Amino acid sequence: MAKRQSTPKIKALVAGNWKMNGIGKQLGEVRKLASAINRKKPNADVMICPPATLLTRMAALKLKGVALGGQDCHADIEGAHTGDISAEMLKEAGAKAVIVGHSERRADYGESDKAVRAKVEAVHRAGMMAIICVGESLKQRRAGETLKIVKAQLRGSLPAVCIAKNTVIAYEPVWAIGSGLTPTIAQVEEVHSALRSALVRRFDDEGAKMRILYGGSVKPANANELMLVPNVNGALVGGASLTAKDFCGILEAYF
Ligand code: PGA
Repeated sequence: MAKRQSTPKIKALVAGNWKMNGIGKQLGEVRKLASAINRKKPNADVMICPPATLLTRMAALKLKGVALGGQDCHADIEGAHTGDISAEMLKEAGAKAVIVGHSERRADYGESDKAVRAKVEAVHRAGMMAIICVGESLKQRRAGETLKIVKAQLRGSLPAVCIAKNTVIAYEPVWAIGSGLTPTIAQVEEVHSALRSALVRRFDDEGAKMRILYGGSVKPANANELMLVPNVNGALVGGASLTAKDFCGILEAYF
């Protein structure tokens, strides 16, 4: 296996985004995941972001080595927002982080960068870590607009004050999500390097330390290669995070 050489001072994060998948019977998968982690001790932080309905139940398992996160939150602390959940509520339920600005939310609910930024502020207000997603569509990539798009999303979605402890970026090309397609290594490297430069320009040392995850069809077969790319500091995993077997296969890159 190739030697890891990417940004050694940053501890990687591998986060599983269960999306709208998972009921009580899937709790066994997190149990299995936790026992594999405690046996093999990956050199990465591991997180599962289940549907909000499972958060308290997962937290009650008190599993060592698996942090929990939410998948979205409202910008306000509380109020008349039927169906929404605040960052503070997710924190109380056991979350340490919240994914914000996922492309499915941007597409399904028309979330703008401004709306995403308000949510990031809410996550920080609650004392948690925001995992902020950016990524281009296939049309934008074909038009040569990838870097312009992701840099604009980054600019618009991040509040003025962010530190490495509370801010993680996830580069997720929209066309790679759930499609089985992944960008080439050179394409991943190009985007992650542009994101790193933008983060350093804006947040200095903190920007140099922020984790930049790659997401979009990460699976056991491609994880090692992707995780070795410079400035790739972990992964945001959808489909392959639903079973302990596949998720552990991805974590192999860090065992
Ligand atoms: P995928 O999803 O791994 O199923 O492509 C990634 C994501 O949407 O975070």
